[in-house]
Amino acid sequence: TITVDPTARGAAIADTLYGVFFEDINRAADGGLYAELVQNRSFEYDPVDNRSYTGLTSWAPLSGPVEVVDDDQRLNERNRRYLKLGLPAGVVNSGYNSGVNVVEGKRYDFSVWARSEQPATVTASLTDPAGGLLADSLQVQVQGDTWTKYTGSFTARKSTTTGRLAVSGTGTGALRLDMVSLFPHDTYKNRPNGLRADLAEKVAALKPGFVRFPGGCLVNVNSHYGYEAPNWERRRSYQWKDTVGPVEQRATNANFWGYNQSYGLGYYEYFQFAEDIGAMPLPVVPALVTGCGQNRATDDPALLQRHIQDTLDLIEFANGPVTSTWGELRADMGHPEPFKLTHLAVGNEENLPDQYFANFTRFRDAIKARYPQITVLSNSGPDDTGAVFDRLWQLNKQAGVDMVDEHYYNTPDWFLQNNNRYDSYDRNGPKVFLGEYASQGNKLSNALAEAAYMTGLERNADVVKLASYAPLFANQDYVQWQPDMIWLNNHASWGSANYEVQKLFMTNVGDHVVPSTQTSTPSVSAPITGAIGLSTWATSAAYDDVRVTSSTGASLFSDDFSGTDAQWTRAAGRGTWAVSGGRYVQSDAAAQDTLVTAGDVNWHDYDLDVKATKLSG
Ligand code: AHR
Repeated sequence: TITVDPTARGAAIADTLYGVFFEDINRAADGGLYAELVQNRSFEYDPVDNRSYTGLTSWAPLSGPVEVVDDDQRLNERNRRYLKLGLPAGVVNSGYNSGVNVVEGKRYDFSVWARSEQPATVTASLTDPAGGLLADSLQVQVQGDTWTKYTGSFTARKSTTTGRLAVSGTGTGALRLDMVSLFPHDTYKNRPNGLRADLAEKVAALKPGFVRFPGGCLVNVNSHYGYEAPNWERRRSYQWKDTVGPVEQRATNANFWGYNQSYGLGYYEYFQFAEDIGAMPLPVVPALVTGCGQNRATDDPALLQRHIQDTLDLIEFANGPVTSTWGELRADMGHPEPFKLTHLAVGNEENLPDQYFANFTRFRDAIKARYPQITVLSNSGPDDTGAVFDRLWQLNKQAGVDMVDEHYYNTPDWFLQNNNRYDSYDRNGPKVFLGEYASQGNKLSNALAEAAYMTGLERNADVVKLASYAPLFANQDYVQWQPDMIWLNNHASWGSANYEVQKLFMTNVGDHVVPSTQTSTPSVSAPITGAIGLSTWATSAAYDDVRVTSSTGASLFSDDFSGTDAQWTRAAGRGTWAVSGGRYVQSDAAAQDTLVTAGDVNWHDYDLDVKATKLSG
């Protein structure tokens, strides 16, 4: 029985309660949200980014001498390598996944930086893998031996998901090319250097209250380096200044998740995207204490001070007048109005609580002294509990921090059993930013567990001020982490069940909590026997761990994983099952299972969807 008093007023719920967390993981940026179709457009791929890389990754020679060169003829100090063709010669790029997605009737914008010792012609063609033309080719005459940007457009006559961009030069002598680029003309909101429309629209459809970016572990890893790494050095920490200005002048870097990041999607584009979808921008800057398996802190005070100054400069970039240094850059990039930054987080999942907090305090003091209206977020380490978590919460409380970022990835069962997590949080302490959470899967059962948990977040909306599922995107061919909310390949994208739950909650944010009480708990009734989804779960070793709950202790199932029969009989070799002390116990240790106590009506671990199908009533 659920009792609701419609006249009562619980906590107010802010429109910004639910947001998204974008991290460049699973190729969420290059090969994902960032609409660039050419992979390794600036020939900067390097084995340091990923051992499989060369300067020609994703490129193949078509004819003539072709080499990637780093010498004093380079485009600029940050974009150091370029492609040198001994004319006549040519190359072809295969994009991401299966190739370049080309849609009949759509326009594609090509650009290239080029210089040539002798008069030369560059021909660019959109082709299928066999070289068949998908559109009329483009030709540009290269005028002289200084770097110049040349542009043109294709209109596709045919569609394919396996397209190629071929670029060749004719003439004599050496032709130098860099930043070979192809964008769909129809980016999200038609922004130049823009975002893939289907992906941006899926995020926009959530109507998120905020966008946390750019990470995650991406942000602070390697930030402990006690020296000023030159800006072409790989494995620098993520530094916002590397990501702004003209794209051909941005650094590229080794991404924490094992690939090259172009920074084509940089801080300006993040702010613009947040504004375009009506969400509050929430950047995360490195604290110079790393978590995510590194656990090191910088011992370089000058480096720390520079990062603090960089953070002040970031606020100026977002909010400063066009007469300020960084406000002027924002205006030059196309946005004279401020981006209205109000919240900023320092650090992510540090495992060294005292070192982290000492640095955090330095950042916070400097920010508050100059920009007292900015909310500065701290965090509580990588776990939902434990010594680091406890120590960080203690420090955060003592220091009167505005808001503390919590992260946890747990089983659906955990989410169901911890719905009341925030009921007991100190109402006078720091507020909570649940910056990353997910139950471990993309099944309906996971989404339902998250939905149930989110009711607990809302009930505690006076404490929990911001919450975001994580991660947001995964390119199905480059997965470092799952589950994820939105999945994609080079031509399609689809939301998970978890996405639908997030959308349901984000597009229906209430104004305030209406208090309710509940008596009794739902109980499990008799099973329906029969062939239910056996073909999908019969042979998977993952289902060794299926657990079945019962309010009576009666046998609700036998673990038939063998395949085809409609009767749920135990497969041979799966160990011995017995009722013991009110529990179903599997004696086969290799199967790693102990079943739940009779009378426990909570669902456990896997297959809520299958179990739910078994129920009657
Ligand atoms: O969301 C994926 C990763 O999980 C994030 O980078 C990190 O903060 C967390 O450990």
